[in-house]
Formats: sequence, structure tokens, C-alpha cells
Amino acid sequence: MESKKEIYVGLLGLGTVGTGVVKSLLANESHITHQTGYRVRVKAALVQTFEKERRVAVNPSFMTKDPSVILRDPEIDIVVEVMGGVEPALSYIRQALLLRKHVVTANKELLAKHGEELMRIAKEMGVRLLYEASVAGGIPIVRTLQAYLTANRVSSIRGILNGTSNYILTQMQLEHVTFTEALLEAQQLGYAEADPTSDVEGYDAAYKLLILANMAFPVRAEMAFVRRIGISKISPIDFEYATRLNCTIKLIGEASYDGECVHLEVTPKLLSRTDALATVNDVFNAVTISADVVGELTFIGRGAGEMPTASAVIEDIAEILRSPKPPLVRQQEIGMDGWIKGNAIKQGMYYVRMQFSHLCQDQVLGVDGKTRFESVASAVEIGSGEGGLTRVFLVAGADLEQIVHIAECLQVKFYVILPYEGEFVLPEHSEFFTLPAV
Ligand code: NAP
Ligand code: HSE
Repeated sequence: MESKKEIYVGLLGLGTVGTGVVKSLLANESHITHQTGYRVRVKAALVQTFEKERRVAVNPSFMTKDPSVILRDPEIDIVVEVMGGVEPALSYIRQALLLRKHVVTANKELLAKHGEELMRIAKEMGVRLLYEASVAGGIPIVRTLQAYLTANRVSSIRGILNGTSNYILTQMQLEHVTFTEALLEAQQLGYAEADPTSDVEGYDAAYKLLILANMAFPVRAEMAFVRRIGISKISPIDFEYATRLNCTIKLIGEASYDGECVHLEVTPKLLSRTDALATVNDVFNAVTISADVVGELTFIGRGAGEMPTASAVIEDIAEILRSPKPPLVRQQEIGMDGWIKGNAIKQGMYYVRMQFSHLCQDQVLGVDGKTRFESVASAVEIGSGEGGLTRVFLVAGADLEQIVHIAECLQVKFYVILPYEGEFVLPEHSEFFTLPAV
């Protein structure tokens, strides 16, 4: 075999993703060498503790608690940040870039909050900052937007962008487990963030949506631009209602741009079973890009976990080996006005489950027997339970703010509001949907 050049990589983190990177580089070493012309060697990994059992056999001297062992090593050309969180990851990446090392990161929170600064430093230093693994795990969505849609103007991105929440929702629907049980499984499988609040409250999906929107549209949006609702209030009973409505529940991220206005939202939705995303289950993610020349492109793949994420990291390393110079990137901004207009809340159909702390029949039904919702929209009650303490409605023709306003006026203990996507005709006979007490 002809002798190959060696390239040294330093890992910041040896958890789920870092372990996957070490395992995959070892398992496919000769194939990667054949594909890239380089022997890719991980020289050291930064960790917090030496006491933890590792899921890959490594020499103890391979691990370090001192970041400068990696950042200051002149032999290391590529730093892979898979430690997560904002600090100290941000300082380490900054340092690596300023020392003219290429950086690969899987850290969506960091990119969503500080991506602009880091990309500017990378450009100034003439090195690459790549982040394929930060969005949708193994799906090559970042590179597609960066390099494959030059001839296109993208108008929307829609998809399932968080593996943990999709796993939880799937388990709740198909295996009838509770939210807490499903979350625990997702954590054991290595899908969840160190703090799973980010997954279940929609922050993680929002970071990813923002990263995609900032690449796809001439926009420099921020987290505050993303309307975000999580899945933590959804319970098995919501799936019972969804099933009776021939729907399922998915956490959907949606970004759209019409040439003037941008709209960004992450919210659990009631999806018709005929929707292509309704059958994307477990840890799978799916992303549909709509663009003017190519039309619709849909990608489906594992959105989290050791190996799919490692695949994306290694593809970034290979991309650096192929093209070590940063490409020219266009960027223009649309102003706040465009976002505010784009984010106007649309009227639609909503599933609303409310739980009251005491019986308040009159408040909900109103004096004339109509629901309070009917002051703003058409509504039908589709179920109740707990002696009337839980009430479920379908409301059509209202917007989210109006429904939230009503729920808050009624001083409910708890409510779940799920927008419905697609064509839906409000049933005339509410009895048809009435369930036994929940
Ligand atoms: P993880 O399993 O919690 O691993 C984090 C690793 O970083 C651990 O090895 C930890 O050391 C090390 N670390 C954390 N903070 C450190 C610090 N201050 N100093 C030194 N070492 C530190 O996390 P992960 O699931 O691999 O995720 C890593 C990153 O990839 C995150 O940004 C995450 O959002 C992203 N990501 C994850 C997935 C996934 O499926 N898990 C998918 C895509 C992207 P110890 O081992 O000693 O504790
Ligand atoms: N916690 C993330 C998820 C990891 O579940 O999607 C992949 O980014």
C-alpha cells in the first residue's frame, strides 16, 4: 500500500458523539484513507473525569483534562468539539480557530448563539468551521444548503429536528408509555442533551431551525425570532384524541421566507396520518426543503445517537481534507420588520385540552350554552373527563394568541394547545368524538 499522509485530530469530549467518532474512524480506517488520501488519527480527547467507564477502549494517556494539550499541539490540525454547552466550548473553539486549526462541531446551541462570530473568525484565519452534525444527526442537510442549492431560492424548510422528542412521542403513541419513561429511554440511548429540557421544550429544535434558516435565507435571525412550544405537557390522552381524529402528534420545525418576511416556529402539531412526517418515527428526523428551481427535497435519517452523528462529524473532517480553504459566503440581512410581519400568527384549527382545578361549567360553556371559544371562533367540545375537570375542544378560525387568552381568562390549571396542519372540517356532531371519562 502506498504511504499515506497522516492528519491528527483532537477531540473536545469523549461522550456519546466523541466515542462514535473514535469507533468509526477505527472501524473504517482503511476506507477513509482510501477516500481522502489521509490517515486520520485521533491524538487526544478532552474529558472532565478519568474515573468514568468509556464505551471504547482507549489508552489512559489518550485522555486529558487540559484543553491546551489539544489546542496547543502543533501536530493537531483539526479540533472536533463534541462536549456541548456554550462555555467553555466557545472559548476553546475561538482559541482553536485563532491558532489556525480547522474546527468541526456538533454543538447547535453554540452555533445558534455564537455562530456568526465564530464563522467570521474562521474566515479571517483562513480555516474551516464545519457543523454538519449540529443539525439532524446523520442527515447531510447543512452541506446540501451550503453547497447544493446555489441555483435555488429556498422558500421553506419544514421537518422533525429533534430525535429525543420524536422518540418520546413515538413511544407514547405506539407503546403507551408515559412521557417520563420515554424520556428516560431516550437518555439511556444517548439521544438526549445533558439537560433534556433543551430537547423537550423545543430549544434544541429551535437552534437547528435557526442554523438552517440563516443558511437558507438572506436573514440573520436570532433565537428570539423563533416561536417555540415544547412537548412536555403532552400526555397519553392527547394521543387517544389524536388517534380518533386520524392524526398523530409531532414536534414540527418550520421556517419560511417569501422574499420579504421570515417566519420561524417549533411547535407540537396534530398531523393528519396522510402527512409525510406522520410516519417518521423513533429517533428519525426528516427535513423538507422547498426551493424554486428544484422543487421539494426531503431527507430522512437518524437524527441523534452515537453512530449517525459520528458519520456527520467524519464527513466534515473529510470535507476539510478535500477543501481546506473557506469558501466565499454571501450574506445579507432582512430587518426586524420582515420578521414581525412574517411571524404574524395565522388563524387555523386547534386541539385544546384544558384542566380545571374546580368545576367551572358556566365559565367554559358560557351562559347561552356555547363555549367561550365561540366568541372568537367555531368550536366543538370533543370530550371531557374527571367529572368535567378535563375538557377537550376543537377550535377553528382562531389564532393561538386568542386561544391562550381564553385559557388564561378561564384560569385553567393546565392546558395543551396543538395546531392542526392540513385541511380539517370541524365535525358537526361533537358526540361522535366524545370519549369516556379520561
Ligand atoms: P455527552 O455524552 O454528554 O459527552 C460530552 C463529553 O464532553 C464528555 O466526554 C465530557 O467529559 C466532555 N465534557 C463536557 N464538558 C466538559 C468540560 N467542561 N471540560 C472537559 N470535558 C467536558 O454529550 P454528547 O451527547 O456526545 O453531545 C456532545 C455534543 O454533540 C453536544 O453539543 C450535542 O448537542 C451534540 N450532538 C449530540 C448528539 C447525540 O445524539 N448525542 C447528536 C448531535 C449533536 P466526561 O465524559 O468526562 O464527562
Ligand atoms: N438531543 C438531540 C436530539 C441530539 O435528540 O435531536 C441530536 O442533535
